[in-house]
Amino acid sequence: MNILGIETSCDETAVCFVKCTGNPVKNTFEMKVVGNEVYSQIKLHEEFGGVVPMMAKREHAKNLIPLLRKILLASGLQISHENRESEQELRECLKKKIEEGNLEELFGREKEFFGEFVRFVEQLDATEIKNKIDTIAVTEGPGLEPALWMGIIFARALAFVFDIPLVPVNHMEGHILSVLPQQITFPALALLISGGHTELVHIPAWNTYKIIGQTRDDAIGEAFDKVARMLGLPYPGGPQISRLAEAQRATKTSTPEYILPRPMIHSKDYDFSFSGIKTAVLYSLRKNPSYVEDGLLHEPAPEVVAKEFEDAVTDVLLTKTFNAIDEFAIKTLIIGGGVVSNSFIRSRFEEKISEYPKTKLLIPSPEMRTDNALMIAVAGYVKKFTTTNSKQDLSKLSAKGNLSLT
Ligand code: KG4
Ligand code: ZN
Repeated sequence: MNILGIETSCDETAVCFVKCTGNPVKNTFEMKVVGNEVYSQIKLHEEFGGVVPMMAKREHAKNLIPLLRKILLASGLQISHENRESEQELRECLKKKIEEGNLEELFGREKEFFGEFVRFVEQLDATEIKNKIDTIAVTEGPGLEPALWMGIIFARALAFVFDIPLVPVNHMEGHILSVLPQQITFPALALLISGGHTELVHIPAWNTYKIIGQTRDDAIGEAFDKVARMLGLPYPGGPQISRLAEAQRATKTSTPEYILPRPMIHSKDYDFSFSGIKTAVLYSLRKNPSYVEDGLLHEPAPEVVAKEFEDAVTDVLLTKTFNAIDEFAIKTLIIGGGVVSNSFIRSRFEEKISEYPKTKLLIPSPEMRTDNALMIAVAGYVKKFTTTNSKQDLSKLSAKGNLSLT
């Protein structure tokens, strides 16, 4: 099955085209990536210290068509302005389709996006597109609603014009299934750590999710970003903190005493809280009169803060996750989301899992860690095998900012 995946829940515009075969439930799933494009808007949001939803939306509207064009070219499709014999006829047909589907209304205030869309689809050979793409998988939530809408409008319009089935995908399910085609044995547990989420999800079987714990305040990636900002480091802060912490670990000199709290580490539930660590960092910086001098932080050294911060959050993640592994006799631990790019966190989990011979650890490949369309296409494909096909009216598919897994 050839799947076009579309993801626009946050600040990455992502489109992919994959060939999926086999049955994930029988562990025969395979996928071949034909094209995979991710346009990161990080640079744009950097100066605001975080993602600005309306800017993200505008960028998605601008980027979706060029990315799809690239993908289609990579898949060997001819896109041409040349006059085809039946060009006039095709145009008439397309115009009728656009009117019939109320597409102008669907794009609403996105007039420019609509105009670009019409010009783009005019150049495509509808029969070839229909033959080439079996399904369109698009993120319906959770995420920033204005951003999600752009992907949904685009997916709905394409699905309608070319008469292709549409599958809505939960972004968090995408992060969980991003470890495929590695084999998931149940019961599984997913630790989802990103800029927007920190969740522990118990998965007793395919398509059965129960969030057993989540953050009560900041997401872990958000905490990384905020602490980095306090240290005068650019957005996104995760990689910056990780770089400094690594430098500190590499020094042979003894680390000065600097201890941060491990919030909720002994609580009986699986919830997290990261805003306390962030506040503790802030106070420790303020307490010191030489906190900022000539724009640079001197004491405690940023490397020391970064290392202790990384140690503290990793201790909490590790304790909570392994408590859940014990309680639910977990056979597969999945860690997904952008923060899994952190090599220290990964190595601590790898070390700990080696004490659990009955549990294996699955981590997505690098291109599937941060937000991407591949995981959305995969999750869309898996649905075919794990859900009963109750017909839903996808012509009204909408963005669901708070969409939950359970
Ligand atoms: O999954 P993702 O790309 O987007 C969301 O859905 O949020 O995750 C982005 C988050 C950011 O907060 C970023 O700082 C964090 O992942 N991140 C890291 C690292 N690389 C990215 N955090 C810690 N260490 C890293 N190496
Ligand atoms: Zn994500």
